[in-house]
Amino acid sequence: MKTKPNAGNKKNILCIGAGYVGGPTMAMIAAKCPDYRVTVVDINAQRIAAWNSEDLPIYEPGLDELVRTVRGRNLFFSTDIEGGIRDNDIIFVSVNTPTKTFGAGAGMAADLQYWEKTARQILENSVTNKIVIEKSTLPVKTALAMERILNSQPNGGAFDVLSNPEFLAEGSAIRDLENPDRVLIGARETERGRSARNSIVEIYSRWVPRDRIITTNIWSSELSKLVSNAFLAQRISSINAISALCEKTEADVAEVARAVGMDSRIGAKFLNASVGFGGSCFKKDILNLVYLCRFYGLDDVADYWESVVKINAYQQERFVMNMITSMFNTLAGKRICIFGFAFKANTGDTRESPAIFIAKRLLEEQAEVVISDPKALDNARIDLSGLAGVLDYREDPYEAAAGCHAIAVMTEWDIYRALDYERVYREMAKPAFIFDGRNILDHSECFRIGFNVYPIGKPPLTHFDS
Ligand code: NAD
Ligand code: UGA
Repeated sequence: MKTKPNAGNKKNILCIGAGYVGGPTMAMIAAKCPDYRVTVVDINAQRIAAWNSEDLPIYEPGLDELVRTVRGRNLFFSTDIEGGIRDNDIIFVSVNTPTKTFGAGAGMAADLQYWEKTARQILENSVTNKIVIEKSTLPVKTALAMERILNSQPNGGAFDVLSNPEFLAEGSAIRDLENPDRVLIGARETERGRSARNSIVEIYSRWVPRDRIITTNIWSSELSKLVSNAFLAQRISSINAISALCEKTEADVAEVARAVGMDSRIGAKFLNASVGFGGSCFKKDILNLVYLCRFYGLDDVADYWESVVKINAYQQERFVMNMITSMFNTLAGKRICIFGFAFKANTGDTRESPAIFIAKRLLEEQAEVVISDPKALDNARIDLSGLAGVLDYREDPYEAAAGCHAIAVMTEWDIYRALDYERVYREMAKPAFIFDGRNILDHSECFRIGFNVYPIGKPPLTHFDS
């Protein structure tokens, strides 16, 4: 697919990185700015081919329709990264920034190799002025490194580096992009920096009310993204920590969350106790924050944020231990069905999904594991490939649960709320157990049917004498 911009277009925008963020974000910009030409490039040719096909590389409600409207009109997907850089003066960079797995900072710091390669590629292929926008989530002060690379040799053009972190959540990406709580754009407080920032404000103000577009200095913008994710994850770890106490005291975590969340100073969102948070970003971004704090000698601050990740690991291990002890201290040879493998509902993404950890632990206990999910079975197969033990994959939840001793609910897909649990129960081995890692089922109804029910942070409902 060609990337040459049209002279008639008001602006030509490039996005490097056609992932969960680059694809949907650029599709929204193309839809809202029909006079702009938007090109998304990636080194992954298979991914680009999928973006150009009827079978998009990611599942996201509303994405197919959006892409269908703009693709070929003013949205283009291509592997021609160099041509894209040459032909576009506004360049969003949305490459992946995973946790480093080697060398200094392994397991904590962000791996910036993809980011740095992109910076060098932009430098090599630029002959005119460029505005380079950090869309990826990055450690604070990364823009400085970007500027240093871009200005390391004269090439006829000047570069302005901006920060415009993305706050969309998977599963609701299109809604979040269309109606964001805020758009954040950070720039150097210089005349050039402010002017570059105004070009980006102009894009978003096509559909986002001006008072929701926040402009800040560049470091505040970079840091605010990490802090936003840390605060969200902290709320989940806070309520999950309390869920353990509820289980000891016969309090009900949903009632506690409701009572606490009705305080308008606290707010009700992100207080659903669960088997733990997953997703590609919370853990990596908090560990990145922790690494930064330690780098600056702020060990107490680092410890504070690290505890959010520790509680998340604790919650997942606690879930497995509860399954083992409730099922008479052995899972060996028992068949256990996992309802949902995606890290949350409405996505096929399984990155850091608690279901991966739980499935591995169940296999270690020599249980037979059946995985069911409406969108994530392909990713589940990849995540669990090569593991020893008996693993089965069934999209149909009735088939998946048949013959099983227990069901563990890992993802809050609506289909699991709406199943005929009388039928599920009939076909399971007895005594039948449900471990509801999302608290989405009607627990008293499941108990009435005959299940032994173990919610998170609520007293279990069992048919055994205590
Ligand atoms: P992703 O892995 O889905 O996509 C990144 C893409 O970048 C991949 O397709 C990869 O092939 C491509 N890429 C890597 N190096 C490249 C290079 N040198 N040239 C061209 N393409 C290259 O990642 P994602 O989920 O879209 O996340 C991207 C960034 O956005 C991360 O920093 C992440 O933390 C942040 N973020 C993600 C979400 C989310 O919901 N996934 C939300 C907000 C922010
Ligand atoms: C999160 C943030 O919500 C986005 O603002 C951010 O842009 C994104 O990370 C990112 O930087 O990648 P996402 O991970 O897609 O988005 O999904 P969330 O809705 O935040 O859920 C994360 C995890 O927390 C899921 O596993 C979810 O099930 C879990 N969760 C969420 C709970 O366990 N309880 C809750 O109350 C809320």
